[in-house]
Parts: sequence; C-alpha cells; structure tokens
Amino acid sequence: MSNTSNLNAVELTVNGVPYPVAIETSRNLSGVLRDELGLTGTKEGCDDCECGACMVLLDGQPINSCSYLAVQAQGREITTVEGLAEGDDLHPLQRNILAAGGVQCGFCTPGMLMSATALLERNPDPSQDEIKIGLSGNLCRCTGYAKILDAVSNTAVELR
Ligand code: FES
Ligand code: FES
Repeated sequence: MSNTSNLNAVELTVNGVPYPVAIETSRNLSGVLRDELGLTGTKEGCDDCECGACMVLLDGQPINSCSYLAVQAQGREITTVEGLAEGDDLHPLQRNILAAGGVQCGFCTPGMLMSATALLERNPDPSQDEIKIGLSGNLCRCTGYAKILDAVSNTAVELR
C-alpha cells in the first residue's frame, strides 16, 4: 500500500478481477464496491451491521461490507452478487429464489444470496434451523422469509 496525499493505492480482487483504486483509509468496502467499482449489486441499508444488505464474501466468509474498511480487503478474495452468475446462467440460488417467489422489492436479495452461498459451501445439507441461522444476519421486510428459506433448501437439494 502506498500513500499519495491522503489516498491509498490498493488493488482489490473482486469476483476474480483485480481493480486498482485510490481510496481514503476510512472508506468502507460497500461504498468502494458501489461508488468506485460500479458494483452496485451490493446494497447499503442500515450502514451499521444490522441488516445484511451489504453482505459480501471475503475469502469465502460472509462479512458486512458496510462495516469493513476497503483497504483491509487488499490481498483477499472478495465475492459479490455479481460474481454468482456465469454469463447469462444464473446461479442455482438466484434461479431458485426467483422461482420460489423470494424476491419482492429485492433490496435484501444480494445479501441473502451471499449468506446462502457461504452456508451451502460449508454445509451442503443444512436443516431448516441451520438455514435460518445461516441467514440470521439478513433482514427482509417484504417476504416473511419462508420463500427465501425454501429457495435455499431447494438449492441444497439441487446441488447435492
Ligand atoms: S448496510 Fe451493512 S449491515 Fe446493513
Ligand atoms: S424482498 Fe424486500 S427486503 Fe427482502
């Protein structure tokens, strides 16, 4: 990391792509993803570690990117919702959440998908309770959660 005035030149690796950026030390990762890299799939809701809308994966682990300094993500693998689909092929979680009717306003959806991705990665056969715990950091004000839980459950079956 090098200092140019109060900016730090860092390289962030997002969805396998290196992005050189010059950012202040105080910038949070969600803001940098959205405003500097144009990756607006990651949402900012509470900005206070409460809602999970900003969830991304850092070396495969879900984190609230609103509360994580972007400079600390240098040298780590960041995965955002934009990294789930392969070209025009949606990730099974994306297909299943749409099919189950688990997307209404959609604001929580990217964060839900990232938490669910991490959950299925560490536990390919989760119980309903384990799915609830895996998504417990993500709030949804629209769906009542049941359809989202169904989508994760259906994806787990599909991927096994
Ligand atoms: S915006 Fe990060 S937890 Fe709500
Ligand atoms: S679909 Fe609107 S907040 Fe979840």
